[in-house]
Amino acid sequence: MKKLYIKTYGCQMNVYDSARMADLLAPLGYAPVDAAEGADMVILNTCHIREKATEKVYSELGKLKQLKMRRAEAGSPMLVAVAGCVAQAEGAEIMARQPAVDMIVGPQSYHRLPEMIARVAREGGHVLQTDFPAEDKFDHLPEERAAPGATAFLTIQEGCDKFCTFCVVPYTRGAEFSRPAAQIAEEARRLAENGVVEITLLGQNVNAYRGEGPDGTKWGLAQLIRHLSRIEGVKRLRYTTSHPRDMDDDLIAAHGDVEALMPYLHLPVQSGSDRVLAAMNRGHTTADYLRIVSRLREVRRDIALSSDFIVGFPGESDGDFEASLALVREVGYAQAFSFKYSARPGTPAAAAARQIPDTVKDDRLQKLQALLTQQQNAFNQSCAGATLSVLFEKPGRRHGQGVGRSPYLQPVHVDGAAPLIGELRSVKIIEVLPNSLRGALADGKAPAAKRAVAH
Ligand code: 5AD
Ligand code: SF4
Repeated sequence: MKKLYIKTYGCQMNVYDSARMADLLAPLGYAPVDAAEGADMVILNTCHIREKATEKVYSELGKLKQLKMRRAEAGSPMLVAVAGCVAQAEGAEIMARQPAVDMIVGPQSYHRLPEMIARVAREGGHVLQTDFPAEDKFDHLPEERAAPGATAFLTIQEGCDKFCTFCVVPYTRGAEFSRPAAQIAEEARRLAENGVVEITLLGQNVNAYRGEGPDGTKWGLAQLIRHLSRIEGVKRLRYTTSHPRDMDDDLIAAHGDVEALMPYLHLPVQSGSDRVLAAMNRGHTTADYLRIVSRLREVRRDIALSSDFIVGFPGESDGDFEASLALVREVGYAQAFSFKYSARPGTPAAAAARQIPDTVKDDRLQKLQALLTQQQNAFNQSCAGATLSVLFEKPGRRHGQGVGRSPYLQPVHVDGAAPLIGELRSVKIIEVLPNSLRGALADGKAPAAKRAVAH
């Protein structure tokens, strides 16, 4: 057996891609390991979304170079591949800067890895594969091996046509593409047969999904979700990441009538200022966003929301930033991510006038994060005493303990639940800890996700 180490950066799409790369390389005799030391092949599956994410890759490559040299001295070669969005965006530059890299493979081309490995083994040298091939990558991937746990990711859509002015995704992941519904349902069925209870549907713009339905018509995300919810064993569905512009009526309605669809939605808004939203080319206003939130809450009273925010976008004034704080106060988030604007080469905003000084960005980020943390704590506190459905995923640190996730993705620890891994149970929340909840098994079967306190 050869040892394969894959280090994954960035979004859940990369987590899914890494798993598929492991599937792809298994027939070549590669088995996954959890460290680069001693590995025969190392793949860095990279993220290009912010500058910091990219810097991490170069620093990791520096370390791998040392490791590779030591292994070469000992007479055992180590292959190094860079995959993902940094590979796509900066492939040639990586090759030039870091000769220890044998292979560069973009996110649309990783089904070509086996032939790339064979080529490097045969001819030596370096291989770069970053086209957006016309053929469908998904048709060239093998079936997944037995799913490892109770939850799984499933990519249904890739790419983005939105061109937000700060974002590299449309350049690294290419145009929107949706997998046919039948292919997705087949993958979901296999996952369920292997014990997966919860599936998270992935896409850079997942709610822009428009895939071919089995009846030949184009299906939207709501139609797909309804179809998947009927698969035996699929008890929980989630989707991420969505765009407010694609929250259509049918999808909002699905939140009210599809029991398996979890009452938790990551719906990034980025800013609470209409001026900034326009400069970002988001294609919606704060009023549009708030309308969507209130319609979602009408159909699903207990829905909890999450978002992404950017502070210090070029031209963002104190007033614009205050508007973001006001939006956060109005919506009330269960959780959220916030980032300092990071100028990405090639995107329109990087060339914009009035870039914001880093000290101002720091200050705004701190204020926003303080508010979001306060809201997150309040949300978690509101769960105290409630009975929530928990899907147990793994043993806890304490003997006999099981750890699972609530409908709102909060980790929940339950004593004595270790034998329930892979099962959904009703749990009464007895304590709210800083990063998790503690609960006790409640009687009876797991109810549909319900929370006592509306947010
Ligand atoms: N600078 C800062 N944050 C960014 N994001 C995307 N591009 C940038 C950038 N250039 C954030 C957005 C997006 C999340 C995945 O990353 O908030 O929703
Ligand atoms: Fe990037 Fe905007 Fe597309 Fe999201 S919608 S991937 S932020 S361009």
